[in-house]
Amino acid sequence: INIILLGPPGAGKGTQARKLVEDRGMVQLSTGDMLREARSSGTEMGKRVAEVMDRGQLVTDEIVIGLIREKLAEGGKGFIFDGFPRTLAQADALGALLDETGMTLDRVIEMQVDDEALVRRITGRFTCGNCGEVYHDETKPTAKEGVCDVCGSTDLKRRADDNEESLKTRLLEYYKKTSPLIGYYYAKGKLASIDGLAAMEDVAAQIDKALSEA
Ligand code: AP5
Ligand code: ZN
Repeated sequence: INIILLGPPGAGKGTQARKLVEDRGMVQLSTGDMLREARSSGTEMGKRVAEVMDRGQLVTDEIVIGLIREKLAEGGKGFIFDGFPRTLAQADALGALLDETGMTLDRVIEMQVDDEALVRRITGRFTCGNCGEVYHDETKPTAKEGVCDVCGSTDLKRRADDNEESLKTRLLEYYKKTSPLIGYYYAKGKLASIDGLAAMEDVAAQIDKALSEA
């Protein structure tokens, strides 16, 4: 099955996507990760998007649709679209890409979290630069300070756009451009809304339930 994880910055999309990869062997397609990879590899496109991302604005539809098109062309099955689509134009493009390749979209999981919690989650987040594990100062610290639980790396870092100023812009972008997708997928009968404020395991259980009904 192919699913979309939809929700504001800090809703827990990346955290749950990693769990689905582990538990079900699904393939995570995070446009945020792809864009961060592009910027760290120093390509022309990477340089162009870096500034936009750090400000918290959305990168152009053309660029992210191109990235997803490349990944889908590589094949595979059981995709988790994480942080994509983020605009109605991207949603239409995804629909067309899936049609072309004969794939279906089975479920869109909307993760609901209030703004206050989002600020706490984003400002406390850090990730492992080696394996990508996501941590939080309060809710998910490493067992040993400064060392990744999963891979033992000491390359733990915080994202340039995880500050209150950029987060304000990211939230505005979400409400203006991405939240209309909730109605869009509801109308298509694909939407399942879950409580993203619950503990991580509870959120995972809600997602499992939504997928069993897909
Ligand atoms: P992207 O990388 O997609 O970031 P985002 O949407 O802002 O989402 P985040 O990664 O910040 O949050 P998340 O929901 O994955 O939460 P996480 O699991 O980490 O995008 C970054 C930028 O790239 C965009 O601003 C834009 O510029 C560009 N971009 C990307 N895609 C694009 C697109 N399609 N179109 C245009 N531009 C695009 O969790 C957050 C924290 O909370 C963690 O510390 C975690 O440990 C903790 N946490 C998670 N779940 C729980 C829980 N249940 N209880 C307590 N704590 C929890
Ligand atoms: Zn690690």
